[in-house]
Amino acid sequence: MATHQAAPNRKRTGIDAWLDERIHSGKAIDFSLNHPVPLHIHPLDYLGETTLFIFISQAVTGMLLAMFYHPVAQTPYHYCPTAASALMNGLHLCPKAQTIAPSEAWQSIQVIMSSTFGSLIRSMHFWGNYFMVVLVVVHMLRGFFAGAYKYPRELTWLTGVALLGLTLGFAFTGYLLPWDMKAYWATQVGVNIVDTLPIVGPPIGNIVRGGPVLSGSTLGRFFAIHMLLLPALTGGLIGLHLLLVNIQGISAADGLVVETDQETLQQIPNVPEAAANSNQRFVPGAPGVRPVGDTGYGTTSAASLNPGADVNTSADRL
Ligand code: HEM
Repeated sequence: MATHQAAPNRKRTGIDAWLDERIHSGKAIDFSLNHPVPLHIHPLDYLGETTLFIFISQAVTGMLLAMFYHPVAQTPYHYCPTAASALMNGLHLCPKAQTIAPSEAWQSIQVIMSSTFGSLIRSMHFWGNYFMVVLVVVHMLRGFFAGAYKYPRELTWLTGVALLGLTLGFAFTGYLLPWDMKAYWATQVGVNIVDTLPIVGPPIGNIVRGGPVLSGSTLGRFFAIHMLLLPALTGGLIGLHLLLVNIQGISAADGLVVETDQETLQQIPNVPEAAANSNQRFVPGAPGVRPVGDTGYGTTSAASLNPGADVNTSADRL
């Protein structure tokens, strides 16, 4: 089995030294900063980090939105007390009699969207959802085509599959929150699909809805799942996913893998070497990048040593 290059011995100073003396954090910091990365790497290898960035953005914008959003399906009691036209500052606030009054949830979103900052934050959260779903899928496809699901990365792949499910869970539960017609009926369709499962379908559907019909209890339930349960599960699982990636190092596309000899992979610590030498981390052929096999360290390309070998996914990758 090939070995990683040893991480350099870093001299601890400042807060790093202060914390290490008290909670022995040094090893953990070295472990995450210095984990080896392949010398040459393709931009597609960063899709996981990009997804992580969107997840953090979703968490921050979601927290801000939760301060103004009301998960209430009813029309506010002050909104239309008699279903007749009510006036406030000369504005008609009530819909015509026998029409459906907007819910408090929907109105709270109108309030959010009526300010510049609110509309920025809400739009970031809204579009971030689509970005995240697309990025997770493309990150997964990259992992699939790079063979990163194979030995020894099966556990990383499995935690990834769970993360895909959780990401879709965010999208599904979030879609109901505006509580408008589109949200209501789209969720109705989704939950009806669950209902059609034999035997287990109806009880699961009732649990998801919080009753036999899609109602205000469903909204409360989806809100709690969307902003408490899913973030906690996703945060924990991302931690595990990243721990596994740190332990094993990421795989690089075939032909970009470089070995010092048959045994030792030519890798560099993630920080600061890779960060400082960013021109080494892109596709060969780009300006300033040495061709594969000419790393400046007198190394040889594994692909050229053993053409056709699955250098990317074999045990040698460890
Ligand atoms: C919330 C969703 C996710 C986040 C935040 C995330 C994050 C990351 C990060 C930061 C990496 C390390 C670098 C990289 O390859 O980009 C990574 C690697 C990996 N992820 Fe994900 N990921 C997510 C979802 C998934 C999914 C859905 C799958 C597949 C089902 C998956 C499978 C993998 C695999 C196999 C690797 C190792 C890649 C390699 O060694 O080349 N991940 N992930």
